Order: sequence, then C-alpha cells, then structure tokens
Amino acid sequence: MTHIPQPGFGGVDSASASSSPKRSASDLNASSNRSVRAVGLALSLSLGLTLMGCERLPVDVSQGGYRGTGMEQVVNPRTEAVKLAANQAPAALEPADEGGPKASQVYQNVQVLGDLSVAQFNRLMVAMTAWVSPEQGCAYCHNVQNFADDSLYTKVVARRMTQMTQTVNDRWQAHVGQTGVTCYTCHRGKNLPDKRWFTEPEMQLAGRLLGNDASQNRAGVEAVANSSLPYDPYTPFLLENNPIRVNGTTALPTGNRMSIKQTEWTYALMMHMSEGLGVNCTYCHNTRAIAEWEQSPPARVTAWYGIRMVREINNEFITGLTPVHPANRLGVMGDIAKVNCATCHQGVNKPLYGAQMLKAHPELSGPNALKDAMEIKGPGKSVAPQSQATTPMNSLTLPKNLASRSQLEGKAVARVD
Ligand code: HEC
Ligand code: HEC
Ligand code: HEC
Ligand code: HEC
Repeated sequence: MTHIPQPGFGGVDSASASSSPKRSASDLNASSNRSVRAVGLALSLSLGLTLMGCERLPVDVSQGGYRGTGMEQVVNPRTEAVKLAANQAPAALEPADEGGPKASQVYQNVQVLGDLSVAQFNRLMVAMTAWVSPEQGCAYCHNVQNFADDSLYTKVVARRMTQMTQTVNDRWQAHVGQTGVTCYTCHRGKNLPDKRWFTEPEMQLAGRLLGNDASQNRAGVEAVANSSLPYDPYTPFLLENNPIRVNGTTALPTGNRMSIKQTEWTYALMMHMSEGLGVNCTYCHNTRAIAEWEQSPPARVTAWYGIRMVREINNEFITGLTPVHPANRLGVMGDIAKVNCATCHQGVNKPLYGAQMLKAHPELSGPNALKDAMEIKGPGKSVAPQSQATTPMNSLTLPKNLASRSQLEGKAVARVD
C-alpha cells in the first residue's frame, strides 16, 4: 500500500532531479577543430537528440479565459487527428420492441435487467457482446448450453458492471451529464479496458541502505507523464480518501502543515488528470490562483465530482469483485484492476468526444438503478460489496464556498474564444 505522510510527518523532501540530456555544449567543443560543416552536423545531431522528446511544431493554442490570464490550451493538430480517429463511438443498434413478455417472465436467472422486454434484453446482449467480447461472442460470459448458469466469472462481473454503469448514469449526472456512459466508454471492444491500474508496491532498495524509493523518482511512469513525482497517485486519491488540497489559505505562512511531499502527491494526481483528459492545467485552474474555486473554469467542478465518482466506482463496485477473479487478472499486491480518469476519458476532455451513446440504451440508466444495485440477489450475492453506497449524493461534502454547481458556473472565468 502507498501511504501519504501526514501533516508535519514527512516534511523532508527528497530532491527530484530532472535529467534532460544536455549534450549540445560538449558536442560543440568536440567539433571545434573540424570544418564548419562538421560543426553544423554535430549541432544538428545534438539538437535532434535534445529535442527528440518534444513534439514537432507547429502546435495550436486556443485561449479559454480572460485576455492576459494565460488560460490557454496547447493542442498538437497531428496527435489530435490520431486521437479523434481512436475515439469514435460505434453506430447504435436499431431500437427493439418494448411490447411482449418481460425478460424476468421468460428467463430464469435475470437479476438486474428483468424489466426489459425480451426483445430489448436480447438487443442489450448483442450490444454488450460488441462492446466487451466481439471476438469471443456470447460464450465469453455464458455457458452456451445453459444461459441461466452463472458459472463463468465474466458473467458475474458483467452483472455488477451493469449495476455500476446504471449507478454512474443515475447518480453521477453532476459528472457524466446527459452524455452518460455505456460499457463501450471504458471497454472499447476489449475484454479489459486499456487504461486501468493496480496499486504499486513501494520499491525496497537493496540492503535497505537507502531505505525505499519513497514511491517516487521512477523512470517512465505514464501515470505522472514521465515526471519524478510519486508513481501511484491512484491509491491515495482514487481509492482512499486522502486530502488533495495543500494550498495555504492565509496570506502569511501560518497554520498550513502540509509538506512539500504532500504537495508532490497532489501534483502527481493532477498530472494524471491532465494526461488522462489530454488537457493543460489551465483547463481547470487559473494558474495565478490555483486553489481559488471562484476563479476556476467550471470544468474543475466537474472534475471534483469525477474524483468522488471514481472512488465510488472503485470501492462500491470493483474491489468487491476481487474474489471471483482468476489470479491472472490480479496485480502484484493481489488487488483487482481499477478505474481512473483515463479509463473513460482516454486522453479526451469528454469521453468519445461527448458522443451520447446512452441515448440509444436508456436501460443502462433508470430510476431503480441504485435500489437494484443495493439489492443484488441470488448467486451474485456473495460478491456484493458491504457498502455505504446508499449515502445520498447531497451528504457528500462540497468544496468550501461551493453552494451549487450552477452557481459556480455563473461565476466562472469569462470565456473569450
Ligand atoms: C459481457 C458479458 C455477456 C455477454 C457477452 C453476453 N451476455 Fe447474456 N447475460 C449476461 C448477464 C450479466 C446476464 C444476467 C443479466 C441479469 O441478471 O439481469 C445475462 C443473461 C442472459 C440471458 C438470460 C438467461 C436466463 O435464463 O437467465 C440470455 C438468454 C442471454 N444472456 C443471452 C445472451 C446472448 C444470446 C449473447 C450473445 C449475443 C449474450 N447473452 C452475451 C452477460 C453477457
Ligand atoms: C467505468 C469503466 C467501466 C465500465 C463503464 C464498464 N467496465 Fe467492465 N471493467 C472495467 C474494469 C476497470 C475492469 C477490470 C476489473 C475487473 O477485472 O473486473 C472491467 C472488467 C470487466 C469484465 C471482466 C473481463 C475479464 O476478462 O476479466 C467484464 C466481463 C466486464 N468488465 C463487463 C462489462 C460490461 C458488460 C459493462 C457494461 C454493462 C462494463 N463492463 C462497463 C471498467 C468498466
Ligand atoms: C480536470 C481538471 C483539473 C486539471 C486538468 C488539473 N486540476 Fe488541479 N485540481 C482540480 C480539482 C477538482 C482540485 C480539487 C480537488 C479536491 O479538492 O478534491 C484540484 C486541486 C489542485 C491543487 C490543490 C489546490 C488547493 O486547494 O490546495 C493544486 C496545487 C493543483 N490542483 C494543481 C494542478 C496542476 C499543477 C495541474 C496541471 C498539471 C492541475 N492542477 C490540473 C482539477 C484539475
Ligand atoms: C465513468 C466514466 C468517467 C470517468 C471514470 C471519469 N469521467 Fe470525466 N466525464 C465523463 C463523461 C461521460 C463526461 C461528459 C459529460 C458531459 O457531456 O456533460 C465527462 C466530463 C468531464 C469533464 C468536463 C469536460 C468538459 O470539457 O466540460 C471533466 C473536467 C472531467 N470529466 C474530469 C474527470 C476527471 C478528473 C476524472 C478522474 C478523477 C474523470 N473525469 C473520470 C465520464 C467519466
């Protein structure tokens, strides 16, 4: 498990060395005796090496805030074209007949979707197959000799995932709006979503001479965009409920016990959120006053709900499924794969560029979703997490100064695109 030092505890910060290859100066010296052409060659070679990690120009910049505030988004049109192609929603199936007997009357073991007509039920089965297991077909979740049988773990997981999807669409409209989510939002035609995470063990360094790596300074960690920041920002913030806010709230440095180390944890999460949505910090913050809600664009409030939603997804729906999974689906700590911002967003500010797939699948929302999710019956019962998921939305603590989302949107930074 990764732990965040408590206030006043882990105050000493390990310096995070940035190590970009600085080659140009020495390369130039080495070539000073040779011909001008060689110098030119060495220069362009070393520049090439130095710039290898950068994106090719030109990039587009769009202004999202009041002039002079630097509230800009930098977008590379070439990576954008690739993302656009990779984030298209599939065509919806023809709607099915609502009439006729209900699934619960015809089938034997229908615990969640019983209110659908048989035609609607079958349409959803076809859609689920396309979303999650297009290669394996129905047999990925079913013993095809007996569709009522729950012996494949994938079916048990799919049932809980259905309840999770319904709950997200019902209870978390403050985040997912009317766009909502379907299985495809995360799965994209694959058994497992591309973007998922496990808890990272802390690395113990040899002989304990150097202690441990303090959960940071690891090379090549995508979660924090290859920075030296803590490499598992998910466990403390998207599974556990550790405080994210670190800024002092007084003009003078009094009373704030947050350490630099804690700030690095917050930054690690922010790097993931930026990377996961393909946006800059200024998409959610006015960086001259990062902590100020009243100066933040409305997307920050959406993100605030998103953090709470992801915690609920992971704690109420996903971790409870751990015992039904085969070992090859679990991480080194024995934990199940979990959801982060990138699982749905996949590098885009609105998953699938805001395609409203849910409209064609109203059965994945619905007023009874929460009730159903709490009353899971039958063989699935053993995996229903012991939860406090009945906690109503309004008992969540809103950010200070934030009476309601709409109120804040009214006050947000004026956009002048
Ligand atoms: C991703 C997993 C998944 C796939 C793929 C899938 N199903 Fe299902 N199926 C389920 C789940 C979960 C249920 C139980 C739903 C409930 O409890 O409300 C179910 C239930 C059923 C039932 C009801 C059986 C009974 O008597 O209780 C039938 C029939 C069915 N599926 C047919 C199909 C067909 C046909 C396909 C392929 C086109 C298919 N399913 C693909 C997950 C899946
Ligand atoms: C918010 C993202 C998200 C949504 C929406 C979602 N899933 Fe998943 N799904 C996951 C993650 C993460 C895992 C990996 C955890 C696990 O193995 O259970 C997973 C795993 C699964 C598995 C197990 C696959 C395997 O090979 O082990 C099945 C089956 C599944 N999902 C079906 C569904 C179905 C059906 C829906 C829609 C009703 C759905 N999921 C919606 C995130 C999602
Ligand atoms: C998608 C929106 C989003 C993006 C992008 C984002 N942030 Fe945040 N940030 C938030 C939210 C929401 C909070 C408050 C979280 C909470 O209180 O639960 C926050 C909090 C913070 C805080 C703590 C503020 C305080 O009150 O102490 C800092 C510092 C911060 N962000 C820095 C950054 C930096 C640096 C970046 C870019 C690398 C960034 N953020 C990108 C949404 C975002
Ligand atoms: C279950 C899928 C899902 C997950 C997980 C998720 N989001 Fe979202 N998010 C959505 C959907 C769907 C929308 C589009 C809502 C709309 O159209 O109004 C959205 C919209 C947003 C927006 C508004 C974008 C805009 O341009 O207005 C922000 C900001 C955001 N999400 C941040 C986050 C952050 C940060 C996380 C992780 C803590 C996260 N999301 C996790 C589904 C998800």
